[in-house]
Amino acid sequence: MSKRLDLRYRTSSENDHDRAKAIFSGAILVYRSLPAMHELVQFLREIIIREIAFSDPCSAESFLGSKEFRNRASAARRFVRDNDEVSRLYKKVLQEAGVDISALFFDHFKLRFQPSNKASQTRYMRDLPAHRDTWGSNVHSQINWWAPVWPVTADRTIGIFPALWNSPVQNSSAEWSYRELIKDLKGEKSKDYPMLPQCLTPPAQNEAVPVIINPGDIMAFSGAHLHCSIPNRTGLVRISTETRTVSLHDLKFSRSAKNVDCDSSISHFDWFHHIEMGDSLAEYYSNKSGSF
Ligand SMILES: [Fe+2]
Repeated sequence: MSKRLDLRYRTSSENDHDRAKAIFSGAILVYRSLPAMHELVQFLREIIIREIAFSDPCSAESFLGSKEFRNRASAARRFVRDNDEVSRLYKKVLQEAGVDISALFFDHFKLRFQPSNKASQTRYMRDLPAHRDTWGSNVHSQINWWAPVWPVTADRTIGIFPALWNSPVQNSSAEWSYRELIKDLKGEKSKDYPMLPQCLTPPAQNEAVPVIINPGDIMAFSGAHLHCSIPNRTGLVRISTETRTVSLHDLKFSRSAKNVDCDSSISHFDWFHHIEMGDSLAEYYSNKSGSF
């Protein structure tokens, strides 16, 4: 069991097979200084500066006050989620990394704010505790893509627990239900259903290894990696972007991470849609009579 992060830098594109082989054995791939990623960062910065209405959005929470910051950051998040230019640039980024996007399904293109001040946090903008995305999706061919929009530091970034890549962690994947989450989100009273299954025995925070990459870089890692937000107490907001993908090539050839501790009984292929045509991976799966 390695406690070191298997971080591999890529300066040119690679095919889906090679990427999957590295990622599903636990490597974290960093595609450095992609021209399209620089374009995407620039475009996202313009949106954020306009929506936050502040030239230095990373320090905006201190100047605007928490409520105003939350409202403006939420508006920026919504704008990015439905924006055609963001979508076009993301596809270009993935193609520059060598991804065959004709076989690619994704969830959303997300902007993430991780405020430093507790009062600025919301359900969608906060320190995320340790989790594996696959506890929720139960799709073990899922790849996460993550990139900073403004520079990050060791105390304000994403963290990965390399020592727990292959080690079971007690978690609530058997009980957690997406349907319950949606009911909770639509409900008027309690809004405390967890967004994803949680660790029942959380690891020590100092086991998380912070990953620092530059704006213009993008990293890809298995959705089965245990990861978290490094708790942000820096006084500055972390602003990053992310998406999750599943390639039909990986499904067809059964390329995936090993399931070490996910006990979910439902696989959420329905969370992923074709990046160009929009059809659901779940429909694709059922039309093929349960196989790829
Ligand atoms: Fe995650």
